[in-house]
Amino acid sequence: MNAPTGAALDTLRAKAQADHRALKGRMDQLSDDAIDVVLRQARSHYAWTDKPVPDAVLEEIYEITINGATSMNTLPARFVFVKSSEGKERLSKSLKPLNVPKMASAPVTVIVAHDLEFWQHLPFLFPHEDRRHFFEGKPAFCEATAFRNGTLQGAYFMMAARALGLDVGAMSGFSNEIVDEEFFAGTSLKSNFLINLGYADETALFQKLPRFAFDDVCRWA
Ligand SMILES: Cc1cc2nc3c(=O)[nH]c(=O)nc-3n(C[C@H](O)[C@H](O)[C@H](O)COP(=O)(O)O)c2cc1C
Repeated sequence: MNAPTGAALDTLRAKAQADHRALKGRMDQLSDDAIDVVLRQARSHYAWTDKPVPDAVLEEIYEITINGATSMNTLPARFVFVKSSEGKERLSKSLKPLNVPKMASAPVTVIVAHDLEFWQHLPFLFPHEDRRHFFEGKPAFCEATAFRNGTLQGAYFMMAARALGLDVGAMSGFSNEIVDEEFFAGTSLKSNFLINLGYADETALFQKLPRFAFDDVCRWA
Protein backbone atom coordinates (compact mmCIF):
# COMPACT_ATOMS: atom_id res chain seq x y z
CA MET A 1 0.00 0.00 0.00
CA ASN A 2 1.50 3.27 -1.05
CA ALA A 3 -1.23 5.90 -0.79
CA PRO A 4 -0.45 9.62 -0.48
CA THR A 5 -1.20 11.18 2.92
CA GLY A 6 -1.10 14.56 4.64
CA ALA A 7 -0.18 17.60 2.53
CA ALA A 8 0.42 15.49 -0.59
CA LEU A 9 -3.12 14.11 -0.33
CA ASP A 10 -4.57 17.61 0.22
CA THR A 11 -2.81 18.85 -2.92
CA LEU A 12 -4.11 15.93 -5.00
CA ARG A 13 -7.68 16.45 -3.75
CA ALA A 14 -7.55 20.19 -4.48
CA LYS A 15 -6.27 19.47 -8.00
CA ALA A 16 -9.04 16.90 -8.63
CA GLN A 17 -11.67 19.46 -7.57
CA ALA A 18 -10.12 22.25 -9.67
CA ASP A 19 -9.89 19.94 -12.70
CA HIS A 20 -13.58 19.09 -12.38
CA ARG A 21 -14.58 22.76 -12.07
CA ALA A 22 -12.42 23.66 -15.10
CA LEU A 23 -13.92 20.89 -17.23
CA LYS A 24 -17.49 21.94 -16.39
CA GLY A 25 -16.48 25.52 -17.14
CA ARG A 26 -15.22 24.54 -20.61
CA MET A 27 -18.17 22.31 -21.50
CA ASP A 28 -21.07 21.24 -19.33
CA GLN A 29 -22.75 18.89 -21.79
CA LEU A 30 -22.25 17.31 -25.21
CA SER A 31 -23.84 18.77 -28.31
CA ASP A 32 -26.90 17.02 -29.76
CA ASP A 33 -24.74 15.77 -32.63
CA ALA A 34 -22.18 14.32 -30.24
CA ILE A 35 -24.91 12.51 -28.31
CA ASP A 36 -26.29 11.17 -31.60
CA VAL A 37 -22.84 9.86 -32.64
CA VAL A 38 -22.12 8.16 -29.34
CA LEU A 39 -25.54 6.70 -28.54
CA ARG A 40 -28.84 8.16 -29.73
CA GLN A 41 -28.42 7.53 -33.46
CA ALA A 42 -25.51 5.09 -33.28
CA ARG A 43 -26.19 1.69 -34.83
CA SER A 44 -24.74 -1.78 -34.58
CA HIS A 45 -22.75 -2.61 -37.71
CA TYR A 46 -22.12 -5.86 -39.52
CA ALA A 47 -20.29 -4.84 -42.72
CA TRP A 48 -17.10 -2.86 -43.04
CA THR A 49 -15.14 -0.77 -45.49
CA ASP A 50 -11.47 -1.67 -45.93
CA LYS A 51 -10.34 1.57 -44.25
CA PRO A 52 -7.76 0.41 -41.69
CA VAL A 53 -7.81 1.23 -37.99
CA PRO A 54 -4.31 2.32 -36.88
CA ASP A 55 -2.95 0.77 -33.68
CA ALA A 56 -2.61 4.30 -32.26
CA VAL A 57 -6.40 4.71 -32.51
CA LEU A 58 -6.95 1.41 -30.69
CA GLU A 59 -4.62 2.60 -27.95
CA GLU A 60 -6.51 5.89 -27.75
CA ILE A 61 -9.82 4.03 -27.37
CA TYR A 62 -8.23 2.11 -24.51
CA GLU A 63 -6.89 5.29 -22.88
CA ILE A 64 -10.43 6.74 -22.87
CA THR A 65 -12.09 3.48 -21.79
CA ILE A 66 -9.89 2.88 -18.79
CA ASN A 67 -11.19 6.08 -17.15
CA GLY A 68 -14.72 4.65 -16.85
CA ALA A 69 -15.97 3.93 -13.34
CA THR A 70 -15.84 0.42 -11.86
CA SER A 71 -16.67 -0.69 -8.33
CA MET A 72 -13.73 -0.17 -5.97
CA ASN A 73 -11.76 0.81 -9.10
CA THR A 74 -11.35 -2.91 -9.77
CA LEU A 75 -10.92 -2.52 -13.58
CA PRO A 76 -11.38 -6.25 -14.26
CA ALA A 77 -11.70 -6.00 -18.08
CA ARG A 78 -8.94 -7.29 -20.33
CA PHE A 79 -8.98 -6.63 -24.08
CA VAL A 80 -7.57 -8.77 -26.89
CA PHE A 81 -7.34 -7.00 -30.26
CA VAL A 82 -7.71 -9.70 -32.91
CA LYS A 83 -6.32 -8.35 -36.18
CA SER A 84 -4.22 -11.10 -37.79
CA SER A 85 -5.74 -13.66 -40.15
CA GLU A 86 -4.39 -16.36 -37.82
CA GLY A 87 -6.19 -14.74 -34.85
CA LYS A 88 -9.40 -14.36 -36.86
CA GLU A 89 -9.18 -18.02 -37.87
CA ARG A 90 -8.93 -19.08 -34.22
CA LEU A 91 -11.82 -16.82 -33.28
CA SER A 92 -14.04 -18.03 -36.10
CA LYS A 93 -14.12 -21.56 -34.58
CA SER A 94 -16.23 -20.16 -31.74
CA LEU A 95 -18.78 -18.15 -33.72
CA LYS A 96 -22.30 -18.96 -34.77
CA PRO A 97 -22.18 -19.34 -38.60
CA LEU A 98 -24.08 -16.10 -39.36
CA ASN A 99 -21.59 -14.12 -37.25
CA VAL A 100 -18.48 -15.42 -39.06
CA PRO A 101 -18.52 -12.97 -42.00
CA LYS A 102 -19.34 -10.03 -39.69
CA MET A 103 -16.19 -10.76 -37.71
CA ALA A 104 -14.01 -11.82 -40.65
CA SER A 105 -14.61 -8.59 -42.60
CA ALA A 106 -14.00 -6.25 -39.62
CA PRO A 107 -10.49 -4.74 -39.46
CA VAL A 108 -10.37 -5.55 -35.74
CA THR A 109 -12.41 -7.73 -33.40
CA VAL A 110 -11.96 -7.08 -29.70
CA ILE A 111 -12.46 -9.89 -27.19
CA VAL A 112 -13.80 -8.23 -24.05
CA ALA A 113 -12.70 -10.49 -21.20
CA HIS A 114 -12.34 -10.15 -17.45
CA ASP A 115 -9.75 -11.41 -15.01
CA LEU A 116 -11.18 -13.36 -12.07
CA GLU A 117 -7.97 -12.52 -10.21
CA PHE A 118 -8.55 -8.77 -10.70
CA TRP A 119 -8.49 -8.21 -6.93
CA GLN A 120 -4.78 -9.04 -6.74
CA HIS A 121 -4.17 -5.58 -8.28
CA LEU A 122 -6.09 -3.67 -5.61
CA PRO A 123 -2.96 -2.47 -3.74
CA PHE A 124 -2.17 -0.47 -6.91
CA LEU A 125 -5.71 0.45 -7.95
CA PHE A 126 -7.19 1.20 -4.50
CA PRO A 127 -4.06 2.06 -2.50
CA HIS A 128 -5.54 3.86 0.51
CA GLU A 129 -6.93 0.67 2.09
CA ASP A 130 -6.19 -3.02 1.49
CA ARG A 131 -9.49 -4.46 0.24
CA ARG A 132 -8.17 -7.78 -1.07
CA HIS A 133 -9.87 -9.65 1.77
CA PHE A 134 -13.26 -8.65 0.28
CA PHE A 135 -12.52 -11.04 -2.58
CA GLU A 136 -9.94 -13.62 -1.51
CA GLY A 137 -11.50 -17.11 -1.31
CA LYS A 138 -14.92 -15.79 -2.51
CA PRO A 139 -15.17 -17.03 -6.12
CA ALA A 140 -18.88 -16.21 -6.59
CA PHE A 141 -18.35 -12.58 -5.48
CA CYS A 142 -15.24 -12.33 -7.69
CA GLU A 143 -17.19 -13.68 -10.66
CA ALA A 144 -20.14 -11.28 -10.15
CA THR A 145 -17.83 -8.28 -9.65
CA ALA A 146 -15.67 -9.13 -12.67
CA PHE A 147 -18.67 -9.73 -14.94
CA ARG A 148 -20.56 -6.60 -13.85
CA ASN A 149 -17.63 -4.23 -14.15
CA GLY A 150 -16.07 -5.93 -17.17
CA THR A 151 -19.39 -5.58 -19.01
CA LEU A 152 -19.52 -1.89 -18.10
CA GLN A 153 -15.97 -1.46 -19.40
CA GLY A 154 -17.00 -3.16 -22.66
CA ALA A 155 -19.80 -0.59 -23.00
CA TYR A 156 -17.38 2.25 -22.19
CA PHE A 157 -15.14 0.85 -24.94
CA MET A 158 -18.00 0.98 -27.47
CA MET A 159 -18.81 4.60 -26.56
CA ALA A 160 -15.12 5.57 -26.72
CA ALA A 161 -14.73 4.02 -30.17
CA ARG A 162 -17.79 5.87 -31.46
CA ALA A 163 -16.55 9.10 -29.89
CA LEU A 164 -13.40 8.74 -32.02
CA GLY A 165 -15.44 8.24 -35.19
CA LEU A 166 -15.31 4.46 -35.43
CA ASP A 167 -18.25 2.11 -35.81
CA VAL A 168 -18.86 -0.95 -33.67
CA GLY A 169 -20.88 -4.15 -33.73
CA ALA A 170 -21.04 -6.17 -30.53
CA MET A 171 -21.55 -9.94 -30.68
CA SER A 172 -22.48 -12.53 -28.06
CA GLY A 173 -23.40 -15.22 -30.60
CA PHE A 174 -20.35 -17.39 -29.96
CA SER A 175 -19.09 -20.05 -27.57
CA ASN A 176 -17.34 -18.52 -24.55
CA GLU A 177 -15.91 -21.94 -23.77
CA ILE A 178 -14.17 -22.19 -27.14
CA VAL A 179 -12.79 -18.63 -26.93
CA ASP A 180 -11.55 -19.29 -23.39
CA GLU A 181 -9.87 -22.51 -24.51
CA GLU A 182 -8.36 -20.89 -27.60
CA PHE A 183 -7.17 -17.59 -26.08
CA PHE A 184 -7.13 -17.90 -22.29
CA ALA A 185 -6.21 -21.52 -21.47
CA GLY A 186 -4.32 -21.81 -18.19
CA THR A 187 -5.17 -18.24 -17.12
CA SER A 188 -7.76 -16.60 -14.86
CA LEU A 189 -9.27 -14.70 -17.82
CA LYS A 190 -12.80 -15.40 -19.08
CA SER A 191 -14.36 -14.03 -22.26
CA ASN A 192 -17.50 -11.90 -22.05
CA PHE A 193 -18.43 -10.58 -25.53
CA LEU A 194 -16.89 -9.47 -28.82
CA ILE A 195 -16.79 -6.06 -30.48
CA ASN A 196 -16.22 -5.75 -34.22
CA LEU A 197 -14.55 -2.45 -34.93
CA GLY A 198 -13.86 -0.39 -38.02
CA TYR A 199 -15.48 2.04 -40.42
CA ALA A 200 -18.89 0.68 -41.38
CA ASP A 201 -20.29 -0.06 -44.80
CA GLU A 202 -23.66 1.47 -44.00
CA THR A 203 -25.32 -0.09 -47.07
CA ALA A 204 -25.76 -3.24 -44.93
CA LEU A 205 -27.89 -1.42 -42.32
CA PHE A 206 -31.52 -2.33 -41.82
CA GLN A 207 -34.17 -0.22 -40.13
CA LYS A 208 -33.73 0.69 -36.49
CA LEU A 209 -35.69 -1.60 -34.17
CA PRO A 210 -38.30 -0.30 -31.69
CA ARG A 211 -37.34 1.06 -28.28
CA PHE A 212 -39.45 1.26 -25.11
CA ALA A 213 -40.96 4.59 -24.11
CA PHE A 214 -40.07 6.01 -20.69
CA ASP A 215 -43.36 4.93 -19.13
CA ASP A 216 -43.00 1.35 -20.40
CA VAL A 217 -39.94 0.53 -18.32
CA CYS A 218 -39.30 3.35 -15.86
CA ARG A 219 -41.10 4.22 -12.70
CA TRP A 220 -40.71 6.61 -9.81
CA ALA A 221 -40.19 5.39 -6.27
C1 LIG B 1 -23.82 -7.56 -26.16
C2 LIG B 1 -24.39 -7.59 -27.55
C3 LIG B 1 -24.37 -8.78 -28.25
C4 LIG B 1 -24.84 -8.83 -29.56
N1 LIG B 1 -24.71 -10.00 -30.27
C5 LIG B 1 -24.98 -10.01 -31.58
C6 LIG B 1 -24.67 -11.14 -32.36
O1 LIG B 1 -24.16 -12.16 -31.88
N2 LIG B 1 -24.95 -11.08 -33.70
C7 LIG B 1 -25.50 -9.97 -34.27
O2 LIG B 1 -25.71 -9.97 -35.48
N3 LIG B 1 -25.81 -8.88 -33.54
C8 LIG B 1 -25.55 -8.85 -32.22
N4 LIG B 1 -25.81 -7.72 -31.46
C9 LIG B 1 -26.44 -6.56 -32.08
C10 LIG B 1 -27.87 -6.33 -31.58
O3 LIG B 1 -28.72 -7.26 -32.16
C11 LIG B 1 -28.26 -4.89 -31.92
O4 LIG B 1 -27.49 -4.02 -31.10
C12 LIG B 1 -29.73 -4.60 -31.67
O5 LIG B 1 -30.52 -5.33 -32.56
C13 LIG B 1 -30.04 -3.12 -31.79
O6 LIG B 1 -29.60 -2.63 -33.04
P1 LIG B 1 -28.93 -1.19 -33.16
O7 LIG B 1 -27.79 -1.20 -32.19
O8 LIG B 1 -28.47 -1.06 -34.59
O9 LIG B 1 -29.96 -0.17 -32.82
C14 LIG B 1 -25.37 -7.66 -30.16
C15 LIG B 1 -25.40 -6.46 -29.43
C16 LIG B 1 -24.90 -6.42 -28.15
C17 LIG B 1 -24.89 -5.09 -27.42
